[in-house]
Amino acid sequence: MKIFLDTANIEEIKEAVSWGIVRGVTTNPTLMNRAKADYATSIKEICEIVKGPVSAEVLAQDSEGMVKEAQKLSEIDKHVNVKIPISIEGLKAIKELSALGIKTNCTLIFSANQALLAASAGATYVSPFIGRLDDTGNDGMEVVADIVQILENYDFKTEVIAASIRHPMHVLEAAMLGADIATVPFAVLQKMVQHPLTDRGIKLFLEDAKKAGLKI
Ligand code: E4P
Repeated sequence: MKIFLDTANIEEIKEAVSWGIVRGVTTNPTLMNRAKADYATSIKEICEIVKGPVSAEVLAQDSEGMVKEAQKLSEIDKHVNVKIPISIEGLKAIKELSALGIKTNCTLIFSANQALLAASAGATYVSPFIGRLDDTGNDGMEVVADIVQILENYDFKTEVIAASIRHPMHVLEAAMLGADIATVPFAVLQKMVQHPLTDRGIKLFLEDAKKAGLKI
């Protein structure tokens, strides 16, 4: 499973990219607002750091407006894919953008049927929002499992991005289910590295190295 970073924060992106594990980045208007940066400039900068798929979301609600905005966003860098919220207008836009060769990430997916429709319209990625489903008493991971199964059954090329990740178990479960990608907030990525037994093990080895007088 590929790891994308779910942020528009340049410092976080630079840091996580230096770990050698980031294959792409997803942004949304909320994350852009947190980063307090100019939209196009920020997307360009992220593309230069990551050199992999970067999602930027449209704001228009009608298909014509979405296509226009998507064309503008995709001109920023060849790595940009355009986030289109699932809706009838969104499906029309995905169909057109797919014909134009512009990659799309169908976002705000909360059911397997929504993902099936987005994939059928030609979406490059579908993003089920796990955490937000869990928050409302639903099982976000069940939706991911259904989507992975359906796309596999019918050999869709569309990739599944497990999104709205809240903790390391979400990443682990998405990986076990066969999601193609998990887009992970920086804080969750930091938690994934940590284990108390690793810290204890390092401390013990260093103490023993000192006792043995080891030098390299
Ligand atoms: C990513 O594509 C989504 O926009 C993001 O994961 C949403 O996460 P949230 O539910 O924590 O806002």
